[in-house]
Amino acid sequence: RHDHAIRPKRLADYIGQPRVREQLDIFIGAARRREESLDHTLIFGPPGLGKTTLANIIATEMEVGLKSTSGPVLERAGDLAAMLTNLEPGDVLFIDEIHRLSPVVEEVLYPAMEDFQLDIMIGEGPAARSIKLDLPRFTLVGATTRAGLLTSPLRDRFGIVQRLEFYNLAELTSIVSRSAHLLGVESTEEGAVEVARRSRGTPRIANRLLRRVRDYAEIKGSGIVDRGIADAALNMLNVDHHGLDHMDRRLLLAMMDKFDGGPVGVDSLSAAIGEERDTIEDVIEPYLIQQGLMMRTPRGRMVTRQAWLHFQKTPHDKALDAQ
Ligand code: ADE
Repeated sequence: RHDHAIRPKRLADYIGQPRVREQLDIFIGAARRREESLDHTLIFGPPGLGKTTLANIIATEMEVGLKSTSGPVLERAGDLAAMLTNLEPGDVLFIDEIHRLSPVVEEVLYPAMEDFQLDIMIGEGPAARSIKLDLPRFTLVGATTRAGLLTSPLRDRFGIVQRLEFYNLAELTSIVSRSAHLLGVESTEEGAVEVARRSRGTPRIANRLLRRVRDYAEIKGSGIVDRGIADAALNMLNVDHHGLDHMDRRLLLAMMDKFDGGPVGVDSLSAAIGEERDTIEDVIEPYLIQQGLMMRTPRGRMVTRQAWLHFQKTPHDKALDAQ
């Protein structure tokens, strides 16, 4: 994948997330002026909105190195110790999916974050001993889909917490136009709008669809991404006019056709459509909820009136009564 070619490298090139950008600009500027490392930063939000990109931007703007890993990769305390002892002063340590750290690894992270101390046990049984090491100052940047997935002691150790939101149409259109330019794809404004409109508010999806629409334009058209080509390509890709993909539609249709529109528990939905519960919660439903197509209630998930309308179905009476 050649994402690196189109990922923004500076905060000034980052489109959207205005509150995040404004805050990071201030916190980075202040840390730099004091010649300190940036406080540990937690970035959370649905996949594809730019958490990794922001971690890279933080390192670039702070003019420090970046070392990357992820929660599931750090299986043992020693795996994290190896990363921590490899850091240069000021470095960013990026841990993606930080909610998936095991408890023993988390225990090693606390004193490292708080006091820049490595405190681990080596060996087993009577030969076991604990070793303490001073670590260089560093900035932990953690990424997760939902802040609520973190244990509170871990969450409490981040001085900066930023939530990423879905991008609006204008922002996503700017991202598509910028990516088209960087990829050397000729596109009209309307073509960029069409790709943006059908990208689930998500730059990663927009950039992926843009590449496929470009392919389509080169084979079926003149190579120019205009509205008609974008529409035809996206229809072929099974992305509907609202930007819902195959999985989105399967989830909403299952709720309507098998559960009368809900309320239905997420585990029942998981079984009905054969997707993991985590995928439903982290990937599929955040956008559908944001778009007002479904909601979470204490009794389970429900589709909204708007979802019935979207699929041109008649709401079941039960669903109507509940709203
Ligand atoms: N590419 C992916 N995400 C982006 C963003 N937020 N700004 C600019 N380009 C991007």
